[in-house]
Order: sequence, then C-alpha cells, then structure tokens
Amino acid sequence: MCGIVGYTGPREAYPLIIKGLKRLEYRGYDSTGVALLNGGLKVHKKKGKVADLEESLVGVNVHAHTGIGHTRWATHGEPSDRNAHPHASASGKLAMIHNGIIENYTQLKGELIKKGYTFKSDTDTEVLLNFIEEIKSNNNCNLEEAVRIALKRVVGAYVILLLDQDDPDTIIAARKGSPLVIGIGKGEHFLGSDASPMLEYTKEVVYVNDYELAIVRPDELILKNLGNEKLTPYVQKLDLELAAIEKGGYEHFMLKEIFEQPQTVYDCLRGRLDAASNTVIMSGVQKHIDALKNAPRVIIVACGTSWHAGLLAEYVIEELCRIPVEVEYASEFRYRNPVINKGDVIIAISQSGETADTLVAIERAKEQGAIIFGVVNVVGSSIARISTTGSYTHAGPEIGVASTKAFTAQLAVLYMIALKIGVEKGTLDQSLFNKLFNELNAIPDKIAEALKQSEHIKKVAEKYKDAKDFLYLGRGYNFPIALEGALKLKEISYIHAEGYPAAEMKHGPIALVDDQLPVVFVATKDSYHEKIVSNIQEIKARKGKVIAVITEGDELIKSMADDVIEVPEAHEIVAPMLSTIPMQLLAYYIGVVKGLDVDKPRNLAKSVTVE
Ligand code: F6R
Repeated sequence: MCGIVGYTGPREAYPLIIKGLKRLEYRGYDSTGVALLNGGLKVHKKKGKVADLEESLVGVNVHAHTGIGHTRWATHGEPSDRNAHPHASASGKLAMIHNGIIENYTQLKGELIKKGYTFKSDTDTEVLLNFIEEIKSNNNCNLEEAVRIALKRVVGAYVILLLDQDDPDTIIAARKGSPLVIGIGKGEHFLGSDASPMLEYTKEVVYVNDYELAIVRPDELILKNLGNEKLTPYVQKLDLELAAIEKGGYEHFMLKEIFEQPQTVYDCLRGRLDAASNTVIMSGVQKHIDALKNAPRVIIVACGTSWHAGLLAEYVIEELCRIPVEVEYASEFRYRNPVINKGDVIIAISQSGETADTLVAIERAKEQGAIIFGVVNVVGSSIARISTTGSYTHAGPEIGVASTKAFTAQLAVLYMIALKIGVEKGTLDQSLFNKLFNELNAIPDKIAEALKQSEHIKKVAEKYKDAKDFLYLGRGYNFPIALEGALKLKEISYIHAEGYPAAEMKHGPIALVDDQLPVVFVATKDSYHEKIVSNIQEIKARKGKVIAVITEGDELIKSMADDVIEVPEAHEIVAPMLSTIPMQLLAYYIGVVKGLDVDKPRNLAKSVTVE
C-alpha cells in the first residue's frame, strides 16, 4: 500500500505532488511527506493526512521543480513524524520514498550498524536507503548504479523513488511487486502509484514492470532492467477522465460509488449481453472456451470483498456450468502446497489488480501450468497483466476504501462468464439462459430502484447505530451477501459484525442473541424462503431485533421483522446484486451518523500491496 508521487519538469512540484497525494490517500493515510530539490534537498513530513502536512507548510518556502511525495500505510514502525516518508540518508544528500516491504531489512540493518550507521526511524525504508548510500560511496558510482547493485540483495516488494541533491532534476525509480506508472508530458514527467495524480496533465503513460529501473528527467525517460540493459518503454494511452475520480457533489466517495452502480453495472454489461444475437460476447472467455468448459475444476482466489464475489460465483458456476469450484483466500492458497491438476482454471478476482497475496497466488498457479482468468477493475494492473486471459469489470476508479461498485461489477462479470460457459457446455438450457440474460439486462434499473430506499435506510441506521454487535444471516445465493454486509459494517462503522449461513446460526451464534442484538437477514424471495422465515422466527423467539432485506411486497416477513428494507423482485441467482445495495447503504449511514471518516476508515488501505 502507500501512495507515491513524483514530478520533474517546469511546473511547481509541491502543489502538484500534494494534489496527487490527495488522490492517492485511498492507499494509506497515516502520515505524509515530500522531498523537494531546490538548491539542496528539503524533506518535510508529518503524521496524519495530506491536509495536515499542507497546513504545517503554510508560509514555508516549498519552491521546487523536482520532488517526490508519499502517503503512508504503516508496515514497519508506528505512524509518526519520524517514520513518515521520505527518509533522508545518513549524509542528508539522498531522499527516498517506498511502497512495499523489505523482508531482509533486519539483516541489512545489522550490516549497516556494524559499519557505524544509526537510524532515525523504525522503517525498512531508511535501511534500504542507507544501504544504497553505502554502496554508492564504496563503489564510487552514481545513484542509478548503486540502486541496481542494492536491489540485487533485496528480498521483498517495493516501488522506490529517490532524489540525489547532486543530480537536481533526476528521479530514480524502481519496481518489484508494487505498482508504478510514469506519465509522459512535454519536457516533464510524472510518477505515481496509479495514473490519478497525472490525469489532467497527460494521457500517455508507461506501466513499469517488475525488476525495471527508470531514470526520469524532464526531457528524458530511460528504462532499464536490473542487468543494466536499456528497454523500450511501452507507451499506452489512458482512457480515464478526471471527473471519474472526483466526488461530483456527493459527501463521500463511498456514497458516490454506491449511487454510480446503475451506471457501472450497465457499463459492465454493455456490449457483452448482445441482444441482437442473444449471446454473451466476452473475448477473454471465447479465446479459451475449450479450456474453460472442459476444466475439471475452477479455483477462485481473491481477498476480502472480492473473495465474497468469488463465493457467490462458486454457487453460480456450479449451478449453471456443473464444474466443481473451490474458493480460496489468496493469502492461504499461496502458502499451502495446493493441488493443481492439468486443466484446472484459476479465476483471480481483484478490484485493484495489485493485491499482493492474489498476485503471488496466481504466479504460483501459473508456474504449475494453470490457466489464469483475471476479473480485474484497474486496467493495466499487475494481476491483469499476469493473467492468461480475463475480463475487466469496467467499474471506473473506486476511491472509497470500502469496495462497493467494484463488487457489483465483479458479480456482473462472473454471472456473464457462467452464462457463457454454461451455454457453450450445454449445462445451461436455453430457456434459463434467456431468463437470466433478460434478468441481468434489467439489473441496472432495479439497482436504481433499490437505491431509492436510501433515506429509509438512513433512519434504520440511526436506530441501530449504538449496537455493539450485529449478526448478518443469509442462505444460498444470499449467504455471500450476508458476509459482505458484515464486512462493510466492520470496516465503516467499527461495529463488530459476523456473517453466517442462516441455518448454521443454530450451531453457535444463536447464543449471542438477546434484545440488544440486531440481526440483519438477507431474505429476498428464493427457494429457501420458507427456511429463512423459520430462522427469523427463531431470532424473534429470543427477542433479537430483526432487520430484513426483502423482496418488495413480502408481507409475511414484514409482519415479523422490526424493520424491513425492500428491493425489487429478481430471479434468485441475480438477486444478490440487489440485496447487496442495502448492505452498503446501512454500513455507510451508520458510519456517517457515528461521525466517522467513511472514505478512509482507520487502519485500512484500498490496495493491500503487502502480504
Ligand atoms: C473491502 C475491501 C477489501 C478488498 C480486498 C481485496 O471493502 O475493499 O476487502 O476487497 O482488500 O482487494 P482487491 O479487490 O483490490 O484485490
């Protein structure tokens, strides 16, 4: 995690870097800093958000044309002024920012301490920087050379940007395992963890690959591998507008993104659900259709919300394609010795496309010969690039730390994949295909309908905001939505919440139920409706408070629940795309009424690029 920005060119670097860091705060926001080259190296850093640093620098001379900036999500060392990046080297001549983790930093630190180095921070970053400085002075080489030598010893993940006060308009950058984009302007260059800091200046970007090093000057970009061979930068054109990453009148990005869902789901389906031919058009699936339909097994790897999308996909793919599916936490999968058989297909789901555990999990699986199908939101991200094939979710940039619109777009893509494989394989009959095809087409409008409950959900949030715990229950296709609802609440409101299969509740969690416990039932009409009605009765019999998400007009559950939130009627397979909307809004409003920073919940970061 952590966000990095760099600039070299004729503009004032500081305001540009600050603006860029604010856009990257979703990646971490516990401390911030900048290093500027202006007749010498100046480092300013502070615990807190970018705005805190900005405020502390009012009246300070921050004039510079080359600089780097960092917004941090702590890994080594608590959030504090001294642990904030950039770090300055022992001589004070070099400054560095880092996104990632240096795993062998203790060993490197030990070597440096023996040579007399002392450290001002607890970070692995300061260790690497001084290691580079030590190599530079021992070998009497330039910074580029020293970085190259140092990185050969480094175990871990990094994007680093360095400044050297003796080389005043140059930024040295290197990457392994964390994202780095370089924007190309006229006589200027921009660097960022993603393209958002450079969007208004250029649409031409280079995605730096692992084990590459960049020497960036105003009118020069040199890309090399760690063997010092020059590489030709592959320049891509960004298809992203500035408006897409701004709040557009909403109080929070999270709310904006929740309300964007009719459009983002529509964008995701558009061109893929082809009404003229009544088929699903997905080139990523089509290219590998034989492998997909003959796969003996599908293994889905993901983390967090993306894992919940994967869990729902398990139900859907098994139902429509009759392929056994396993859903794995990427962080567990990568450290096991999983059995991957010939023909197995791995589906990797990730909004950011940079989640370290998911990335390494698929690298391992790829080494064992598996086909990797990426379901990714961020175009050009690492997971998208390493995947054998895949489909983008086209939800646009998701800035709110809690995932919302990316989740519904993931579901839309996964449904379409299942429809396509099912029909090609012959396990999905034409009439159910037609039904689900039409149901999916209607989903964007139904999401818009579900969003109309927003004001009502706000009142429900006010009623339950002081609860200490919540239980979320669902069955079948709605079970993953119960898990997702609980996760959203934990992240945004800091209220403990557990998601459970509704029937499993009797095997333990029911002991928690008393008149203080709100229980959210995801109970839209489906084949398990009668069963979930019984589960609601079991909770009511123990005086629990029931908040039920129901299909419009479900008078039976209305008569039993303390509060209901209605969503439009839909086929049970696609209904989770609707029942998840109240989950998002409930978590959002509880966070808001508690006065919390819903876009930047404590301890979290949008993109988890450390394991
Ligand atoms: C929850 C959330 C996280 C992410 C998880 C995976 O709201 O955002 O749980 O879903 O960190 O991230 P991606 O999808 O980027 O791989």
